Amino acid sequence: MSIIFNRVKDLKQLINLNNLRLFSAKLIDGKSIAKDIQNGLKLEIEEWVKIGHRAPTLHAIIIGDDPASVTYVNKKMEASKEVGIKSERIYLPKTSTEEEIIKKINELNENPQVDGILVQLPVPEAVSERNVCNAVDPKKDVDGFHILNVGKLTLNMDCFVPCTALGVIELLKWFEEDSKTKIFGKNVVVCGRSKNVGLPIFNILHSDARYNLPGLESTVTLCHRHTPKEQLEMFTKSADVVISATGVVGLIKKEMIKKGACVIDVGITRITTPEGKTKLVGDVDFNGVKEVAGYLTPVPGGVGPMTVAMLMRNTFKAAKLLAQ
Ligand code: GUN
Repeated sequence: MSIIFNRVKDLKQLINLNNLRLFSAKLIDGKSIAKDIQNGLKLEIEEWVKIGHRAPTLHAIIIGDDPASVTYVNKKMEASKEVGIKSERIYLPKTSTEEEIIKKINELNENPQVDGILVQLPVPEAVSERNVCNAVDPKKDVDGFHILNVGKLTLNMDCFVPCTALGVIELLKWFEEDSKTKIFGKNVVVCGRSKNVGLPIFNILHSDARYNLPGLESTVTLCHRHTPKEQLEMFTKSADVVISATGVVGLIKKEMIKKGACVIDVGITRITTPEGKTKLVGDVDFNGVKEVAGYLTPVPGGVGPMTVAMLMRNTFKAAKLLAQ
């Protein structure tokens, strides 16, 4: 009797172990989705030029020599070249004053050859990020950081939407199609309330689909640094979609995720491994969460390339707006 009992126990363990090993989230390949979007844009831009317009242009201002900012801007410039957008980097010294930066922005605002303008953030501490973002002509504000675009987004009016938020929404649309499930009405948790990422994602997710800038009509909970850990876990555990944009490495753990949920990792932090190598990691404990989630974005290769693809889309939108 006890032999049979033990065999059944062994068998149960085997099944459990196999379950753990076999269940692995489907990866949402942001790199390939972004590539498809950029290939489509390239064709549209070729058509645009063929009918007599000049190629769209993007100008990026980099203040100082922060290596991460330089890398990000280089990626944006590479993508521009691939899709047929002419781009230029403008380097300003890190000692630049607010007036000097705004003077440069104004030159670009007034130049009819310039479609999209972005100022790579962060700006030096002595400079007001808000004043700099508000200096960009809202019609050329491809980052969607100008106060007018921020306001329009909250009212679901057509505007420039911040690129990372747009990228996350595109990934969610891909998820909806692939999983044949709609986010409409579902529980979504956004971790992080930054004005440029968490908040615009929240705005699009919760709002009405009938507006000019349609929302996804989901039930959204916005958590942030003061959300108690147990509370955060309670919310994420019942969420169909979890989006984390905090920069807190490993914040989202396996036990916080409902089986089959979709997890989007917006975090990107450079860490040094015990072996002394540097690597980029997200907010999500990837190896743990992939055992329970249904869908998961990798870092790198998830949201990052989508942000760049959305910048390309916004720049072409600016070019079309300016040509009207
Ligand atoms: N710094 C980090 N992310 C971004 C971004 O999306 N746009 C700009 N301008 N700066 C950033």
